[in-house]
Amino acid sequence: MSISAVLSLRRCTVAFAGVTALDDLGVDIPVEGVTAIIGPNGAGKSSLLNLICGLVAGTGTIHLAGRDITALPAYRRAAAGVARTFQTPVLCDDLSVLDNVLLGVLSSKKKAAVELLDRLGIVARSTTKAAALPHGERRLVEIARALLRGGRVLLLDEPAAGLGHAQAHQLMEAVIAETHRTGTTTVLVEHNMELVSTWAEHVIVLAQGRLLAQGTPAHIRSQQEVIDTYLGAMT
Ligand SMILES: Nc1ncnc2c1ncn2[C@@H]1O[C@H](COP(=O)(O)OP(=O)(O)OP(=O)(O)O)[C@@H](O)[C@H]1O
Ligand SMILES: [Mg+2]
Repeated sequence: MSISAVLSLRRCTVAFAGVTALDDLGVDIPVEGVTAIIGPNGAGKSSLLNLICGLVAGTGTIHLAGRDITALPAYRRAAAGVARTFQTPVLCDDLSVLDNVLLGVLSSKKKAAVELLDRLGIVARSTTKAAALPHGERRLVEIARALLRGGRVLLLDEPAAGLGHAQAHQLMEAVIAETHRTGTTTVLVEHNMELVSTWAEHVIVLAQGRLLAQGTPAHIRSQQEVIDTYLGAMT
């Protein structure tokens, strides 16, 4: 385990009935810089985030900033500094946008929450019930909730899905400015290689629950196996 890793996973396996979502996976996520996790549909990207935050059971070990969190339940991992968003946003539909964001902190951080909604461009929606939001804005509310919570690591599952090119870059800029300010490491699952190349320093490529390649975006683009398995299908 490297001390400069915010997350270190060793021999991690997640199996559902008949499907091995993660297969003896070992990865380190550096403290510094943004790490992107890419790979084809079903590669195990969401399962990896779910394993890290404790929402699915598996085998292997997980260290957060050098501390073994393998045995901790999800709520204690959250308290230890793991925040995340979901591929399909999970909001309380009967609560307002502002109350949904405040759910992440359970304290009187209302001013900070309003400022954050402003920076993410949805402050006008503060008192709107979550149920009334279009999908793209639901995602922003979830991201705001995770950002306000802060912590050591923020796991984003396809944060830019459904957004246009300019919107996606604006979102990444706002998120990274925020995580930079709070000293939080950003990890994002993302299909859009252009977005990954712009915003991530490190890339982890998964395929069939295994580590296919890792390195800088430029290195990943130069790997023929990665291109054949994944990137080739996208161009
Ligand atoms: N709760 C579950 N029950 C059964 N099988 C599951 C479950 N969650 C994931 N899987 C299976 O595990 C494998 C990995 O799925 P996962 O959602 O982690 O992939 P992914 O890389 O996030 O894919 P996508 O790009 O489509 O989001 C797939 O074969 C999937 O069908
Ligand atoms: Mg997924």
